[in-house]
This record gives sequence, C-alpha cells and structure tokens, in this order.
Amino acid sequence: MSETRQTTDDGQTTDSELAGGASASPGTDQPLEVTSGETRERTREEWVEHEFEGDAKLSVSDLDVYYGDDHALNGVSMEIPENSVTALIGPSGCGKSTFLRCLNRMNDRIKAARIDGSVRLEGEEIYQEGINLVELRKRVGMVFQSPNPFPKSIADNISYGPRKHGDLDTGLLANLLGRSDDDAVDELVERSLRQAALWDEVQDRLDDNALGLSGGQQQRLCIARALATDPEVLLMDEPASALDPIATSKIEDLVHDLAEEYTVVIVTHNMQQAARISDQTAVFLTGGKLVEYGDTDQVFEDPQSQRVEDYISGKFG
Ligand SMILES: Nc1ncnc2c1ncn2[C@@H]1O[C@H](COP(=O)(O)OP(=O)(O)O)[C@@H](O)[C@H]1O
Ligand SMILES: [Mg+2]
Repeated sequence: MSETRQTTDDGQTTDSELAGGASASPGTDQPLEVTSGETRERTREEWVEHEFEGDAKLSVSDLDVYYGDDHALNGVSMEIPENSVTALIGPSGCGKSTFLRCLNRMNDRIKAARIDGSVRLEGEEIYQEGINLVELRKRVGMVFQSPNPFPKSIADNISYGPRKHGDLDTGLLANLLGRSDDDAVDELVERSLRQAALWDEVQDRLDDNALGLSGGQQQRLCIARALATDPEVLLMDEPASALDPIATSKIEDLVHDLAEEYTVVIVTHNMQQAARISDQTAVFLTGGKLVEYGDTDQVFEDPQSQRVEDYISGKFG
C-alpha cells in the first residue's frame, strides 16, 4: 500500500491521507494501525514517554497481549503515578479493557489470552511465578461497566469479600481490633459506603436487597465493595457508560475524590469525561498501540500525534 509522508518545519510528520480523511484503501487488507479515516503515522517514543513528579504505582513495560492470532496490545509501556486519575481512551476494540485487565491479571482467566511483558506494582513484578492472585486483586480492585452487585443485602455486598477472605481482623480492620466482629462489620460497611458517596442514600435500608437500588446507586455500591478490601489501585472499565447523566456526574465526582487516597485507572469512551476527571490521559489506537500519553490538558489541547488530534477532534473512532 502506498503511503506519503511529509515533514513540516517543526518536525511533525503529517500524512497525505489526512487531507482526504477517507479510509486508506477500502477492500484491501489494511495494516493493523489503519481504520476508516484514521491517519497513518509512526508512533514516536517521545509521545508515549512521560515523566511524572510522583512515584509510579504501576510500571508497565513492553506489554503484548494476543487472543489467538489477534494482537490486542502491542508493545505498551507506561508508568501510572500514584494518587491520581489516569484515563485510557481510544476507539472500541483498541485494547483498553485488555490493558486494564492486565493490571491485576484478570486476563489470566481468559483461556485464549497470551501475555508478554512486565507489569510492576510498586516495583514488584506481578507476572512473576508465585504471586498470590487473591492478594494482588485485593490491592488492585476492579469495577466493571455494568453494575454487578450480588443479589444480597446492601450490607452483605460490602462485607462478603472481607469475610470470605478472613480479613475482618486484618487489613482495613486492624485498627478496629478489640471490637466484636459485628461492630467491625458495621464500621466497614459504613466507612466503605461513605467513601463511595452512597451512605446518606442507603443508611436506613442496609438490609434491603442491593438489586432494588438504582443503576447509579448499584455502581457506587460496587465501588464501595471494591474499597472494602482496602485496595491501593482501583481499575474502572467504563463505570458510567450504563448510567444517566446525573448518576454519571456522581461517579465522576467520586472518582475525583478517590484519587486523593487511591490510584485510579479508568477506561472511558467519553472524551469529555476523560478531560474532566483525569490527571493523565493515555490514548490507544487501532492495533492495540499506546499512541500518546501525557498530562490530560496537554493531550486534549495540544496533542503531539496527528492521529490523536484526528481522534480527539472526532475525525474517526
Ligand atoms: N476474551 C476475549 N477473547 C478473544 N478476543 C478478545 C477478548 N477480549 C477482547 N478481545 C479482542 O481484543 C481486542 C481488544 O479488545 P478490548 O480490550 O475489549 O478493547 P476495548 O476495551 O478498547 O474496546 C479486540 O479485537 C477484541 O475483539
Ligand atoms: Mg472495553
């Protein structure tokens, strides 16, 4: 396939296909990094490397994920700073969920998935042999796209995990020692629900079935449930995409507040949402490549990559 590149004075590479904005050549086998309307361009190292002031909570290097022959993530490296919100954006199918699942080894559960590369949590490789996956997933909790509370009471949704893992007298609850289990559970339930900005709405009906809550409340309950295991990192995969605007804005406020104490990594298909709530933004494009990563303001106002500028301005995706 032919390809014309021009280099402008400031060294930015542009692509002649950009002008037409059309797909590269319909009906032929296209290289992975091209979708309809997407400009072809090499990814430059400096676009994906970014120095942060704080310490890296998670360090990802050369991460590749294959599902059978499908190369879903392609050589992704990025550092995720602690106590901040990192947004992952990009068109559907570019590997955002796959990347997120690599951060607490949820992809291990997918038989077809093969993972290469390194993910370190505070410097410790999570893909080394002997890692305790239950402990890992407690430290790196996850919230999914559709709220999925257990068909149990609101209180039981919170206490189920810590009870199951025998954590009621350790971890988060260590500071509550000396109380009875029941008191400890009550405190855990209240604290988690407060952290998830749900306490005021449900404190009078903690024994009601969680499935009776609204969608937005269910999602905050799932966040409370994730917080109950005392995580350090919270992974969120489009947590507001099934919610109405008011419920969405509550989740957005919550995410912002949680970053004071937790490291939040959030996938969103909503670019305005990423711009509103995140400190850093990572843009994935077709072929499972991380094309740009930097401070959110910079990525949205002055993207370094032409492909990212096209994506953000709505030319494709
Ligand atoms: N469980 C799976 N089995 C096989 N292929 C998968 C699976 N999950 C995702 N994929 C493929 O990996 C690619 C990336 O998917 P995904 O990570 O879900 O992207 P995104 O979240 O950005 O929409 C897609 O081509 C998708 O079809
Ligand atoms: Mg996804």
